[in-house]
Amino acid sequence: MCGIVGYIGVKDARSIILEGLKALEYRGYDSSGLALLDKNEFKIYKDKGRIAHLCEITDYSFETHVGIGHTRWATHGMVNYDNSHPHISNNKRFILVHNGIIENYRKLKIDYLSDYNFYSETDSEVIVNLIEFYSKKMCTDSAIRKAMSKLEGSYALLIVDNENPDVIYCVKNKTPLILGMSNDGVTIASDIIAFPKDVNKYFIFEDQRIAIIKQNDVKIMDLMGFEIKPEFKDLKLDEYNISKGNYDHYMLKEIEEQPDVIRRIITKYFDDDNAVIDYKLIDAINNSDKINFVACGTSLYASFMGKYFFEKLCGIPTECFVASELVYSNPLMTKKPIFIFVSQSGETLDCITVMKKYKQQGFKIISITNSVESTMAHYSDFVLDICANTEISVASTKSYTASIAVMSILAKAVSNKKTNLKNNLNRVSQVIEDIIVDLKPLVKDMAKKIQNSKAIFYIGRGIDYWAGDEAALKLKEISYINTDSYSSGELKHGTIALIEDGTPVIAIITQEGTNSIIRSNLAEAEARGAKGYVISLESLAYSKDDIIIPNVAHYLTPMVSVVVCQMLAYYVALYKNNDIDKPKNLAKSVTVE
Ligand code: F6R
Repeated sequence: MCGIVGYIGVKDARSIILEGLKALEYRGYDSSGLALLDKNEFKIYKDKGRIAHLCEITDYSFETHVGIGHTRWATHGMVNYDNSHPHISNNKRFILVHNGIIENYRKLKIDYLSDYNFYSETDSEVIVNLIEFYSKKMCTDSAIRKAMSKLEGSYALLIVDNENPDVIYCVKNKTPLILGMSNDGVTIASDIIAFPKDVNKYFIFEDQRIAIIKQNDVKIMDLMGFEIKPEFKDLKLDEYNISKGNYDHYMLKEIEEQPDVIRRIITKYFDDDNAVIDYKLIDAINNSDKINFVACGTSLYASFMGKYFFEKLCGIPTECFVASELVYSNPLMTKKPIFIFVSQSGETLDCITVMKKYKQQGFKIISITNSVESTMAHYSDFVLDICANTEISVASTKSYTASIAVMSILAKAVSNKKTNLKNNLNRVSQVIEDIIVDLKPLVKDMAKKIQNSKAIFYIGRGIDYWAGDEAALKLKEISYINTDSYSSGELKHGTIALIEDGTPVIAIITQEGTNSIIRSNLAEAEARGAKGYVISLESLAYSKDDIIIPNVAHYLTPMVSVVVCQMLAYYVALYKNNDIDKPKNLAKSVTVE
């Protein structure tokens, strides 16, 4: 997590870094800070709180063309001034911002830095002092490389040196860092969206590299000090449009973008009615004996639909794994499994760790991602773009429906069966439009009724249960109401004890075979005081159902039922006056274990 930005060039470094940090605030927003070069010395401004506060405490009275900045999602130490970045070395020579976690920082303190004072509880302050420690015996870039060789963990670092202030050093291991060039300067950031508009070339920094960046000169070296030629790519920044437009929140904007995203996916992946996917990818799946989906959070819940498609349409046994569980466990693998990682950001560390583990074992890796230039894409044999454009709101919305759409197309291509998928996806995009316009008043009404609840339950069976998992995650993460999802049949095996007078229980009903049984399970909860709500598909609806969704193909219903639940979560959070796009304790891109 955390976001870092650095700039060196002829323009005002202060405004470029502050704008970049605003764009990166989705990565963490506990505290923020920056170091700006004023003549020959860097000045530091930092505090707990958001970038808006940093803008207020920054000094605008001097010209500055070099600087580094940071927005923090706290990992080591409380959210306070001392733990905010940048951190400075004891002799005040080196200043650094860090994204990542240094696992051996306590040992490094004992082994090398026992004479040093520490003013924060962070692992990052250890790095800056370790660089100072080595700088006493060698030049700065050697000192940084030497310090890197001692670090265990993940890091993207921007470092400046008061004795050589016209240079930014950057290094990285496991944590994303991208370097962008414009005609008059160089920007380095955790994400492309932090770049100023005039950046026209970029390259993705590899692990275990150091860059020495001057105004118009970038020198990259490996850990041994050998120079490496960077491969720049052209950048079209309009692809990274992150404006909020007329919306108050990114989340609502992104919910309402879903019909367009699905149409974009259809355009990209269909030629007439045929799904167009790289034949080598299809062969790789056909040559495997099992598909293993690996993902976290919303992407994991989307993966359950992938399992459904591959088993039903292709007859391939498929399992979904929580990425963080696979890091430390070694479940029995079949002889020829293939791994499909689903990740909006492509930077989720739990996924990356598992990906590297199974890649090393020689297994083929597919990524379904919204970030085709991400670390995960980089390590994958095949990459499928979910075409959702940048998702800013911390709560994922459009990436859920987009991932399901792409998985359905991949399964169709693998099965080589004639299906009506293209029309059915088109229908989904129309129905989402109808939901957004026609059902909004009903959703708002329901949000008002449930907004003060202590706990809420979603129930369903089969794919409605999986949709409920995602619905519950959305509601809990932005409303802070304790929300859970259960298979409706499981409720009576314990959870029903939690039902009190008026506890909302929301049933999702979109499948014919389970319509009446879910209603019976809901009635059981209502008999114990629950206030039941039903979100149902038109063809299965009872007239008293609360939200009735126009029909779509039975195997795509989570793509529409979840949209209702995304809107419900949004309005509950809105009525509670919560910070919708930046819910407490969270960050968009989870780059720590
Ligand atoms: C929830 C949410 C998270 C992410 C999860 C995985 O709204 O956004 O649960 O889905 O952190 O992130 P990605 O998909 O980037 O790997």
